[in-house]
Amino acid sequence: MSNDLNIKPGQSIELLKELHILTRDGKLNQDSRRKLKQVYHLYQFIEPLLQDVQQDHADITLVDHGAGKSYLGFIIYDLFFKNLADKSHIYGIETRDELVKKSQELAQRLNFPGMSFLNLSVAESITSTQLPATIDIVTALHACNTATDDAIRFALQKKAKFIVLVPCCQAEVASVLKKNKGKSLGRDALTEVWRHPIHTREFGSHVTNVLRCLQLEAHGYQVNVTELVGWEHSMKNELIIATYKGLPAGRPSKRLQQVLQDLGLEEMKDRFFTPELMSSHD
Ligand SMILES: C[S@@+](CC[C@H](N)C(=O)[O-])C[C@H]1O[C@@H](n2cnc3c(N)ncnc32)[C@H](O)[C@@H]1O
Repeated sequence: MSNDLNIKPGQSIELLKELHILTRDGKLNQDSRRKLKQVYHLYQFIEPLLQDVQQDHADITLVDHGAGKSYLGFIIYDLFFKNLADKSHIYGIETRDELVKKSQELAQRLNFPGMSFLNLSVAESITSTQLPATIDIVTALHACNTATDDAIRFALQKKAKFIVLVPCCQAEVASVLKKNKGKSLGRDALTEVWRHPIHTREFGSHVTNVLRCLQLEAHGYQVNVTELVGWEHSMKNELIIATYKGLPAGRPSKRLQQVLQDLGLEEMKDRFFTPELMSSHD
């Protein structure tokens, strides 16, 4: 076992077995190495954010969107929340009922009372009364397609201080690029960048994350973009961490509009909405 996959002090062996990271006889399940490596690596980024919130107030709230089997939520709870003597809480949002039920059962079995799993879409969770009005940290790890965009909308509504995203592929921008390609080719030689279908898909995916970053900056966040793990572990490994700083919104907002216009994506301005379309953070 390599050092980065060592079991951490105080970590629940029972949890790792339940997540099939450890086999029943306590060995590391090779198929789970990739997942565990991603989650541990992500935890290194999330731990200082939790400590930052903790310095400000107790009862930390974290929402994980598109939670799936809730590897991320469980590992964060086990390594950080488990030892807090307050009302800190992790919410997992997931549309697949069987995964929600399994996570609920596991949290009960492990006696992790500060975890809830809700069978809601990310979009539904924005208005759900089952969630608090404000949330400290929002995460979305490989949340499918536009679920990451909904997670951004959720985080903005909930005035999250930190937003941690590892986006999955998003097909919406590529489909609009494809639809408007004909018009754009005649007008602008740079359309060559996304003329071939595979380039349309890849460029669409790249532009989506660029627009997400500009949108977050337009809402006053400082944005850092980095790589989650080496390419051999996942093709989708862009890590976006946004921290609310109340930064001026004017320039990123204008840049966002300009990029949408230049790429023929004006119809997507509601998806990548700027603060004029919602009440401000303050
Ligand atoms: C690729 S999996 C990632 C799971 C987990 N975050 C991880 O990284 O292991 C994406 C999950 O998001 C869920 N999902 C997709 N769209 C969703 C939506 N709009 N709202 C909530 N969950 C969604 C899927 O059911 C699936 O479990």
